[in-house]
Amino acid sequence: MSKKNTQAVKSFFDGYASGFYSIYKEEQKNPIKRFLDRTVRYSMFHRFQKVSEIIEKSNSRDVLDAGCGPGWHDILLAKTLNINITGIDIAPEMIKISETESKKRNLETKLNFITADLLEYNFDQKFDAIFALGVVEYFDDPIDLLKKMKKICTNKILFSVPVLNHWLTTQRKIRYKIRKCPLWFYDEKKIDNLMSQIPFVNYKIHKIDRDYLVEISV
Ligand SMILES: C[S@@+](CC[C@H](N)C(=O)[O-])C[C@H]1O[C@@H](n2cnc3c(N)ncnc32)[C@H](O)[C@@H]1O
Repeated sequence: MSKKNTQAVKSFFDGYASGFYSIYKEEQKNPIKRFLDRTVRYSMFHRFQKVSEIIEKSNSRDVLDAGCGPGWHDILLAKTLNINITGIDIAPEMIKISETESKKRNLETKLNFITADLLEYNFDQKFDAIFALGVVEYFDDPIDLLKKMKKICTNKILFSVPVLNHWLTTQRKIRYKIRKCPLWFYDEKKIDNLMSQIPFVNYKIHKIDRDYLVEISV
């Protein structure tokens, strides 16, 4: 990713951290927001459900959440599965929320959070599974990111990207352009092309409403 884009994405998510986290706080939503999130953001919840099923079946022990945001998925996984999760995010405010929420639930022995750029950080271990939800679309050129994931993963890589041809795409493009956060959309051909450049041969593309979830066996 270019330095300019990295900086734009970092400052966008740093400023939006608590707003973004509120998407997951069901109990604090008014009925209209709850309804909107359940319909418009349907795929955010369902892509995670699919990821947790795949991770559970894969018998993974060490898992990396690449671009973990407020760490909500990590908390859910740590509560239900016997796994160690590392969450990494470039936005310090996102990691602050992840650490606070993990501490509140006494999950610090299973969860570890790092504030860093995924492309710059040197991991000192390998992971059985890596997932990146709502992250790859912020990279103008995700090849280096996927190559890095390939190097440090022993079994499954899962990532989502937003569908190009969807009725909500135009409004999302406009919203993010106004907020100066770069963002890219995908069709299956673009995903196939990306996979061939890494290369990844063994992969499936699951269509989940507004998103594709790509499941790679390394
Ligand atoms: C839309 S949020 C998704 C957060 C989380 N995966 C979720 O689904 O709840 C995207 C996250 O990716 C992070 N991110 C984007 N580029 C990154 C990079 N180069 N290194 C680490 N994190 C990055 C952002 O800071 C942001 O928190």
